[in-house]
Amino acid sequence: MEKILNYIEDGKERFLNELIEFLKFPSVSSLSKHKPDMLACANWLVEHIKSIGIEDVRLLETEGNPAVFAQWLGQPGAPTLLIYGHYDVQPVDPVELWETDPFEPLIKNNKIIARGTADDKGQLFCHLKALESFFKLNGKPPMNIKLFFEGDEESAGEYMEDFIKDNKDLLAADYVLISDTEWLNDNSPSICYALRGIAYFEIKLTGPNRDLHSGSYGGVVDNPANVLCWLINQLKDKYGRITIPNFYDKVVPLSKEERESFKKLPFNEEEYCKDLAVDALNGEFGYSALERVWGRPALDVNGMISGFTQEGAKTVLPTEASAKFSIRLVANQSAQEIVEQVEKYIKTLTPPTMKLEFFCHSIGSPVLVSKDNPAIRACYEAMKEAFGKEPVFIREGGSIPIVENFQSILKTPPALMGLGLPGDNIHSPNENFDLNNFYGGIKASALFMDKLLKHI
Ligand code: BES
Ligand code: MN
Ligand code: MN
Repeated sequence: MEKILNYIEDGKERFLNELIEFLKFPSVSSLSKHKPDMLACANWLVEHIKSIGIEDVRLLETEGNPAVFAQWLGQPGAPTLLIYGHYDVQPVDPVELWETDPFEPLIKNNKIIARGTADDKGQLFCHLKALESFFKLNGKPPMNIKLFFEGDEESAGEYMEDFIKDNKDLLAADYVLISDTEWLNDNSPSICYALRGIAYFEIKLTGPNRDLHSGSYGGVVDNPANVLCWLINQLKDKYGRITIPNFYDKVVPLSKEERESFKKLPFNEEEYCKDLAVDALNGEFGYSALERVWGRPALDVNGMISGFTQEGAKTVLPTEASAKFSIRLVANQSAQEIVEQVEKYIKTLTPPTMKLEFFCHSIGSPVLVSKDNPAIRACYEAMKEAFGKEPVFIREGGSIPIVENFQSILKTPPALMGLGLPGDNIHSPNENFDLNNFYGGIKASALFMDKLLKHI
């Protein structure tokens, strides 16, 4: 392995320049104007994978953006590792808050700044460079490899579950390795064993057929903006619990051992508040911050639109009001069942004065994986050696919908080797990826493949 690690050390500058090329594609999956950029980016990935030594590389058509698939099966008898990542990125706005054009990467303070650096192009690129080192030095990697990089993770393409079912044999593997999560803090390499799920909704209330003078009509005609606020307020009680009937029925409670293990993690609520410039936290009664974000559901408004929002005052009752809100789910809640419960509840809450439009944008299931599997043991040792620090086991509050499909359809346990840091600003202006994590991530990926063989 020393040769491999030296190769990585010597290749740093070139790896970084190649990552920069990859980052220049504005592969924003949620905006239709970027369709051609998605394809161009996928094609670039195909060519790049060929250049590192894999011949069988394909673009797989989906209902959304193409997925990139590759396989190298030259080690008969050895296990097959599936590496997953996503080449699509989030939109860039508010663009004026960026220090650089989001698609013109900037290196500053040992970080690379651009959209998609940490989420997820930089992280997935680590695995390609690890594979390259094996191909260049040994002619082949130590086990069979499949690569699957999707282009609709950020837009939650709902076709993915069926796609995995339809391509079950093509994607079949013994282990899955994913780098699309982050460390608990800058000094704790982290292995994630649970993700929250998600259900994302939009509701619109329509009242009178036109905006009305708030003096002539206020207090008589029901106001969609007021009703929307009231309605959203009904979704949680004063203990921060979600009030949708039967919502908690399937929630797996946090075990005593797990709560103890969270308490031992190097996490400080005061520093967390300071970093966010908030004086206090708020959430479900009876749970710590880590317990809330990792192990309990949450309901949040993501945006609201209604009425007069320009400069000055205008006395008006708006004709309509709408909100986008999402619910984070935990094991073993079913996203599909939650959607039905939410729709039913919102309908019963809506007063006869309003017309309701209800829409579910996306869903993703929660995951909870057993730590007792060879891929996780290999991940632990690989990260420890690559970063020279003891890794910690964490959960994440975010969602990666496909992971549950890997578990339930492919029956393959995933190892979530997070390479991001909490300060990476994913989904936010000035997204960045620490270069130590980039280079260390390449080494950790190579070490993982080596160690996995020793663990089975
Ligand atoms: N990589 C993230 C998930 C994530 C977020 C992991 C934070 C660890 C920490 C992923 O790309 C993501 O953003 N997922 C979306 C899914 C949604 C669009 C269906 C999310 O969680 O909002
Ligand atoms: Mn991601
Ligand atoms: Mn993301």
